[in-house]
Amino acid sequence: MCGIFGYVGSRNDAAIMAVEGLKSLEYRGYDSWGIAWKEEGNLSFRKEIGKISGVDGTTLSENCTLSIGHTRWATHGGVTQENAHPQFNEDRTIAVVHNGIFENYQEIRNELKAKGHVFVSETDTEIAPHLIEEYMKEGNDFARSVQLACRRFTGRYAVVAVHTTSDTLVAARTGSPLIVGVERGKGYFVASDTPAFLRHTKTVQYLDDGEMLVTDGKTILFWDILTGEEHPKREIEITTNIAEADKGKYAHYMLKEIMDQKESVARAVNQDEAEILAVADAIRNAKGTFLAGCGTAGKACMAAEYFFSVIAKHHVNFTPASEFKLYHHFLQPQSLLIVVSQSGETADVLEAMNVAKAAGSKVLSIVNVAGSSIDRASDYTLHINAGPERAVASTKALTGQLAVLLLTAYALAGKLQEGKKLLLEVSSMINDMLNPRYVDRLEALAGKIKEKEDLYIIGKSWNYPMALESAIKIQEVSYIHAEGFAGGELKHGPIALIEERTPCIVLAGNDEVLPDILSNAVQLKARGAQVIGVSPESNEIFDEWIRVPDAGPAQAIVNIIPIQVLSYFLAVQRGKDPDMPRNLAKSVTVK
Ligand code: AGP
Repeated sequence: MCGIFGYVGSRNDAAIMAVEGLKSLEYRGYDSWGIAWKEEGNLSFRKEIGKISGVDGTTLSENCTLSIGHTRWATHGGVTQENAHPQFNEDRTIAVVHNGIFENYQEIRNELKAKGHVFVSETDTEIAPHLIEEYMKEGNDFARSVQLACRRFTGRYAVVAVHTTSDTLVAARTGSPLIVGVERGKGYFVASDTPAFLRHTKTVQYLDDGEMLVTDGKTILFWDILTGEEHPKREIEITTNIAEADKGKYAHYMLKEIMDQKESVARAVNQDEAEILAVADAIRNAKGTFLAGCGTAGKACMAAEYFFSVIAKHHVNFTPASEFKLYHHFLQPQSLLIVVSQSGETADVLEAMNVAKAAGSKVLSIVNVAGSSIDRASDYTLHINAGPERAVASTKALTGQLAVLLLTAYALAGKLQEGKKLLLEVSSMINDMLNPRYVDRLEALAGKIKEKEDLYIIGKSWNYPMALESAIKIQEVSYIHAEGFAGGELKHGPIALIEERTPCIVLAGNDEVLPDILSNAVQLKARGAQVIGVSPESNEIFDEWIRVPDAGPAQAIVNIIPIQVLSYFLAVQRGKDPDMPRNLAKSVTVK
């Protein structure tokens, strides 16, 4: 939920790099930002409410080789300057940035207050510099004091800490991401995600849960927080490139990432066939297969229930990851949990994985970010290869997730090549669909409904989860109250919401449930709704028709794309920032 950054090395523009690094992490949280840098033996700092994207970092010191930074999504304490990170001890000799939550912060805060410590913020984070100071008073060096403090913390966190008298940077993680960027012979970066240092290096080292690191910019040591045992780390070259990570010619990341779907679905389909077949075997042999994910990724899992049912005649169970712990009664060592996550860092998903592991079950993850916590904690992983997704609204990741799940269902049915052929055809359909005229048509439609405050979406079969996903997309970027329903559920309550000219989107395909969903559309029409059909064929019921290709069992993948484009234009035309919606962040690393 926050972005953290650190640098130590031979470069003297550490403060400027901190600002630039935070700009690449802003998608993780943008309530406030702050940096601290070491200059002539003191810790200087700058903290501001609001987004860092417009800040000119070049005016900052060019005489510092050590810095830390933070871009915040508020959890404990409001959006104020005092609550912005870095957080300090009273004499400002220690600065700490933190992502996650110290669940036992109240107990530690009271203990420190009793020892005379004075706190100036409402954050949980502020206990860290004060607790580190206490351990240093007991004669421990800075790194050891950070280690002892981390042993006290409970909850998911990643921290980076610096001290005025030490030329080292110390970092630790348990449950929140932190990756090391290596500039051999020059210095080391630490950050929540690689875009923060990608312009400087593609060589990384992964810090795992329960580990910490100490670096002076020349060398780096990794060790276990609890045991102190040293953990040597390999240096790994990552393939992500800057162009992929930047928005290029587009006004917003969201539009760029929607357009990326011209290629990203094909990349998702291009899986190692042996791996897909192995996953299909794991599902076939499991005693109960469960799917778990959150938000948009959860809707991909829900659609997969229909894929596995219709294509492979195989029963799987979806549950929102945050609800999964209540399923532990059904889990056994032969069970399989499939988790889907774009970021690979979602706390609710990590918790669901822990529930499955506690029962001895295997875990398969379908992720976009290779090397993420979920990736590294899984028994098997399939990567959707969508490339960096920076907009808070998940678009290309969703269609990649759907493609991998549908391909797996075909593999389970013994029809892998048939599934691959269909999905590669769908990929070229998407490429044809996302043309300027089509986008202009959707921009014009957004103009017709942008003043509406309520909007409903219905679907059936795999289009029902897409109706729910459509609601998330429209809600989170335009702030219109959008709700999705199973078409058949309308008459059992929701239809009471329909008034004259209420916009209602109907998701359909040329399939066995088309007559049913059209019948639901008639019910909407009869009550005065403005019916917007998303369908391969037009129909007299539709007041507006958004044509989509006939994609058969992959209809969910093509149907959601015009909704993504429509959501984008609704946001822009309502004066909202589609990339960084209010109250949200890209990766929900807290429960
Ligand atoms: C999607 O548009 C939302 N931003 C959100 O629902 C997201 O899908 C959810 O938080 C899960 O994130 P993940 O895929 O990174 O686990």
